[in-house]
Amino acid sequence: MPERPIDLRSDTVSRPTAAMREAMAHAEVGDDVFGDDPTVNALEERAAELLGKEAGLFVATGTMGNLVAQLAHLGRGQETIAGRYHHVTLDEAAGHAVIVGTSIRTLEDRADGTLEPEAIADAFRDPSDVHEPITGLVVLENAHAHSMGQPLSPAYTRTIAAIAHGRGVPLHVDGARFWNAVIAQHDAGVSAPDLAGPADTVSFCLSKGLGCPVGSVVVGSRAVIARARRARKLVGGGMRQAGVLAAPGLVALRDGPEGMIDRLADDHANARRLAEALADMDGIRSPGGIAQPAAGSLDPSRVATNFVLFKVDRDRAAFLASLRARNVLMLEYAHGQVRAATHHDVTAADIDKVILATRDALADTGASAGAIDRVGAPG
Ligand SMILES: Cc1ncc(COP(=O)(O)O)c(C=O)c1O
Repeated sequence: MPERPIDLRSDTVSRPTAAMREAMAHAEVGDDVFGDDPTVNALEERAAELLGKEAGLFVATGTMGNLVAQLAHLGRGQETIAGRYHHVTLDEAAGHAVIVGTSIRTLEDRADGTLEPEAIADAFRDPSDVHEPITGLVVLENAHAHSMGQPLSPAYTRTIAAIAHGRGVPLHVDGARFWNAVIAQHDAGVSAPDLAGPADTVSFCLSKGLGCPVGSVVVGSRAVIARARRARKLVGGGMRQAGVLAAPGLVALRDGPEGMIDRLADDHANARRLAEALADMDGIRSPGGIAQPAAGSLDPSRVATNFVLFKVDRDRAAFLASLRARNVLMLEYAHGQVRAATHHDVTAADIDKVILATRDALADTGASAGAIDRVGAPG
């Protein structure tokens, strides 16, 4: 059998652990639409408890989590304030427009993954003007993908919540990689409830760095989660014996080395070490865009979580093909970048192999024309 590639395209490619498969095989189940599935109920309670919220809702994907949160908070014709490069703006097939019936007022994402607080305050519409939509939601993304996975701090989240709440508007955090943001700030004493506390709803993915095969959880007050539950049914996400899918989530959310949260620190260390090696290679450039505004070389100190973004000074497709021939997969990302995302299926020894393969792939593909710019970014 050919050797399995070292797959850095996304943390979504991570596969369930043996403990997860075991938990799936033995999960107690019931009909979750009737509220009867004990494993789903346990996962929802565990997620809510970990983030310091009243209730949780298990959904199929991160996209569905953001969608049901929007449906819970917004009415048709309202408007959301979000970043121009947020997933909810760019990469969810315009669900906000097609399904929620709302517009997004987009602001510039900054290099640290934030939106300028003054710009958010200025973006609220005048509800007395019949020409304008009514602002109904503010969204933040944490960790923020297009800035190379920068984590947002509790202080910043509190600032934005205060602005939103001052206008009577809720805050939703798209925390697809919320746990990466928590772990990245662990040494600064940041906990999950600190980071989630200011937000009205937070969605986080189980299927990315936490390694589960499917699923996300949305947490918030009992009232907002009840509305999100209705919305989940509306979009066809009411599942039945879903405990077999929720069981790996309970494994992932275990405390300590039994779970998948604490070990995210290894992914961050692997990403940083990869970036340090890449930064010294001829042919590797700054990712540009908002990930690292300055031109020149890749700055490894910008790697705060599990994303490494960079550009190559040669044909990107040829470079990626050459890497693939060496059994290493990376992804064409937005803004002409390449993305390498670490996860639990990529070991420190794999990173050594990736460094060698990258050197060889660069040697294979001489410097040439730039890559195609595309703003959206998968996974
Ligand atoms: C920031 C962010 N939000 C939401 C999602 C959506 O997650 P899913 O692919 O599970 O729909 C992603 C997916 O990569 C993401 O990066």
